[in-house]
Amino acid sequence: MRKFAIAVDGPAGSGKSTVAKAVAKRLGIIYVDTGAMYRAVAYFCIQKGISPLDEMSVLSLLDEIKLEIQPTRDGQLIFLDGEEITQKIRTQEIGQGASQVATIQSVRQKLSHMQKEMAKKYAVIMDGRDIGTFVLPQAEVKIYMDAGVDERAKRRMGELEAKGEKPAFDAIRQEILRRDENDMNRKYSPLCKAKDAVYLDTTNMTIDEVAETIVKIAEGKISEV
Ligand code: DC
Repeated sequence: MRKFAIAVDGPAGSGKSTVAKAVAKRLGIIYVDTGAMYRAVAYFCIQKGISPLDEMSVLSLLDEIKLEIQPTRDGQLIFLDGEEITQKIRTQEIGQGASQVATIQSVRQKLSHMQKEMAKKYAVIMDGRDIGTFVLPQAEVKIYMDAGVDERAKRRMGELEAKGEKPAFDAIRQEILRRDENDMNRKYSPLCKAKDAVYLDTTNMTIDEVAETIVKIAEGKISEV
């Protein structure tokens, strides 16, 4: 049977993963980062010399992609064919590749099946682009996290600078706009707010404030269950 679930959707750089990890810790539930799964598929394709846009080639290799998600205290580890690739996939190139590979219906079917299975096993907070609308439409709590594009680019810059990179603000902003365009306008499960999701504009909110808001909403629902 499906366990208690919180679905968090929103565009690139809206702060979903940082907030979702904090909420998972506070509530003692499992955090599932579904973007990492699309990133792992893109990483696999790039390693094999296949463009994430080359649908026929991606489909021919889909069954070979052996992904494993391991929840941890601080988030999750992701394995591709037994190799732990959690940090390797956190690049701009892989993010863009993930957005491209995510337009392919069979890729979405494979990954959303795995995501639904995880929500059967664990109480989860799951973040992505189609969680409240498609993967967990019965989730007790649905959040749509948004933020202005300049703020999202600023947050992304901060993350990259923390890793010792020196990104250009305009390039990051452009990349975010490209991803928005791709993720919101694709044919299958495009990013959009579920009708029953709470819309949170986090532009002027801190991580703690957003996490606190979600925890309060979730605690209200848990007490109803
Ligand atoms: O959250 P992220 O930046 O790691 O996601 C990378 C890409 O994966 C994102 O641009 C679109 C795709 N994605 C998706 O289509 N559906 C999801 N549930 C999660 C991510």
